[in-house]
Amino acid sequence: MEQLEFHLSKNQTKKVLDVGTGVGNFIFLLTQALGDYEEIVGIDTSMRAVELAKGYFPNQEKIKFSVMDARQLEYPNDYFDAVCLSNSLHHLDDAQPIFDEMERVLKPKGLLIIHEMISDPLTPKQVSHKLIHHFSAEIDRLLDIKHDDTYTKAEIEDKLQLYSSCVIEDSWIPVHKEKHEFSQEEVDQVILSLDQMQNRISNPDQLPYFKQKAETIKEHIKEHGFDLATQYMFILRKNK
Ligand SMILES: C[S@@+](CC[C@H](N)C(=O)[O-])C[C@H]1O[C@@H](n2cnc3c(N)ncnc32)[C@H](O)[C@@H]1O
Repeated sequence: MEQLEFHLSKNQTKKVLDVGTGVGNFIFLLTQALGDYEEIVGIDTSMRAVELAKGYFPNQEKIKFSVMDARQLEYPNDYFDAVCLSNSLHHLDDAQPIFDEMERVLKPKGLLIIHEMISDPLTPKQVSHKLIHHFSAEIDRLLDIKHDDTYTKAEIEDKLQLYSSCVIEDSWIPVHKEKHEFSQEEVDQVILSLDQMQNRISNPDQLPYFKQKAETIKEHIKEHGFDLATQYMFILRKNK
C-alpha cells in the first residue's frame, strides 16, 4: 500500500469519499494508507450493505456511512480531497452521471482513485475467481441487475478516458504484505457457493444451462486451485 500512501500524503488528503462502498472493504485499506485524516464517508444504494459497514467500524467518529445514490451525491462542490470507486466500475448502471458527480464533489487537483479487479492476464488459479465472478454476474444480469463481466486493464483505461475529465497519473497492482493462501476448506466453500448462487434462478428452464456451467467451473477449480484475481489501482487528478 506504500504507493497509495505516497499519493494520499503528497496530496494532503484529509476528506475522502468512497462511492459504492459495499461493506466498507476499501475503507479498511484507506485507513491503513491515510495518515491523519478528518473524515471518510462511504456511500452505497444498498441499505443492507451500509448497515453491515457501520457494524464493521463501530465507535469511529471520523468514518461515516450513508445510503445514497452516486448519481446524486449530497455534498457541496469541491468538498473532498479524494473520491474512490473500488470494484464497482463494472456494477455501474449509468456511469457518466456518476463520474460527473464524483468530479463535482472533488476539489480541484483532488484525486480520483479507481480500484478494480481485472479479467486478464490471470494465473489459472486466479481464473477460478474470474469464472465464479462472471457466473454470479450472469445470474445478476438474468435478474436485471447491472453487473458486467470484469474488464481488462486496457478496457478500464478506455472507460476512464471516456467518462472522466481527470487525467490518469499512475497505475499499479497493489501488493498485500500478508498474502492469503486459500485452504482446502475455503476452496470447498467457494465450490459450494456455485450451487448456492443457482438458488437465485427462479425459471427452471434456465437451470440446466447454469448447472452445466457450474460443473465446468468446479472442474477448473479442482484442477488449478483458487486465488483472488489481480486488482489494479488507478490515480487520476482533477485539473480544474
Ligand atoms: C462489488 S460492490 C463493491 C464494494 C466495495 N467498494 C469493495 O471494493 O469491496 C459494488 C457496490 O456498488 C454499489 N452501487 C452500484 N450502483 C451504485 C450507485 N448508483 N450509487 C451507489 N452505490 C452503487 C452496489 O450497491 C454495491 O454495493
